[in-house]
Amino acid sequence: MIKHVEQIETFAEPPIRVYEWDGEIQPLLEFLSKEKFVHSNGNVKSENVWLFEEPIFADLKKFCLEACQQYALDITDTEQELEIQQSWANVNEPGMTNPQHWHSNSFLSGTFYLISAQEKGAPIVFSTRGRQFSLYLEPTSRYEPDDQVEHNKYMASALNVASVPGSLVVFSSLMPHQVPPNESDSVRISLSFNTFPKRPFGYDTDLNSVKYLSWLLLYNRI
Ligand SMILES: [Fe+2]
Repeated sequence: MIKHVEQIETFAEPPIRVYEWDGEIQPLLEFLSKEKFVHSNGNVKSENVWLFEEPIFADLKKFCLEACQQYALDITDTEQELEIQQSWANVNEPGMTNPQHWHSNSFLSGTFYLISAQEKGAPIVFSTRGRQFSLYLEPTSRYEPDDQVEHNKYMASALNVASVPGSLVVFSSLMPHQVPPNESDSVRISLSFNTFPKRPFGYDTDLNSVKYLSWLLLYNRI
């Protein structure tokens, strides 16, 4: 077999990180059971889209922020302070889905799982934004459409991440993701949130400084 003399790694999709929380989930579920929910885009979402402002979520919010700061430091090489912005609950009854989307006006996003069946419970499916080769060619081994095919990282276009209760998945807000139909017979409940850098950030000399708050925000008019 012919051997290359060197392989130069090029660019990479940002990784997805999973963090484990050891706090209690039951009190959060009891709180959510009293919240209002609305049908939205294939599943059901909390009407309150600032859930982490509620005192009962204080510990979980702190954990989520620390996880994002760690991701920002390790992956994006910054100690820039981040702030959690919107946060909401997703309820996927059996059969419900979330279509593919990404999170605009956000730097890093996260999803924390409260309940999800591990047998036939829907994972979260991430997709690449890039296409690396122009041709579709037969793989070395044939497979049936229903086979689970393990592509290498250069050929994969989608990646499943299990929705394990107590785990937090942190990812670049730009990375497209979706949730396939919940094929279990139990409900799947998660919390999602967005983050944004705390102002000021950027550099005057690079002409990319973000500094000012709107006067409407400063004076609590909105
Ligand atoms: Fe999402």
